[in-house]
Amino acid sequence: MERTYLMVKPDGVQRSLAGEIISRFEKKGFKIIGLKMLQISRAIAEKHYGEHAGKPFFAGLVDFITSGPVVAMVLEGSGVINAAREMMGATNPLKAAPGTIRGSYGIDTGRNIIHGSDSPESAAREISLFFREDELFSYNRDV
Ligand code: CMP
Repeated sequence: MERTYLMVKPDGVQRSLAGEIISRFEKKGFKIIGLKMLQISRAIAEKHYGEHAGKPFFAGLVDFITSGPVVAMVLEGSGVINAAREMMGATNPLKAAPGTIRGSYGIDTGRNIIHGSDSPESAAREISLFFREDELFSYNRDV
């Protein structure tokens, strides 16, 4: 089953949006198989955002993502990578469709509330960067 890595960024946590964001994905029908709050080290942040190294916003991005706790999660479900990105909306919240997470709650590209993997390769890399295998759960939801 397809998996993706999602992370409520420090601005989302500080604005008390974590529960609302988790709830949107749960209600959509995706399965949470990993969930935790953590403060990211600079080393992990630089790895996570490695594809942006050298870009003008890279230093600010690392400063920001390490500035406070994040809520990290792994979701499972058919088509979850693209569906989660649709639910998040465009990277620039001012261009994100109304009703999406960024479209509903943000105005700043640097503080855009949530991160989500953009491909199966990124998802695998990001999940293994933030979660050990024994932090991912298998359970039945048919109750
Ligand atoms: P995210 O989906 O976490 O992936 C990279 C992040 O870089 C992006 O969200 C933005 O928060 C951040 N960022 C900051 N400035 C820019 C920019 N000019 N273009 C793209 N991403 C940016």
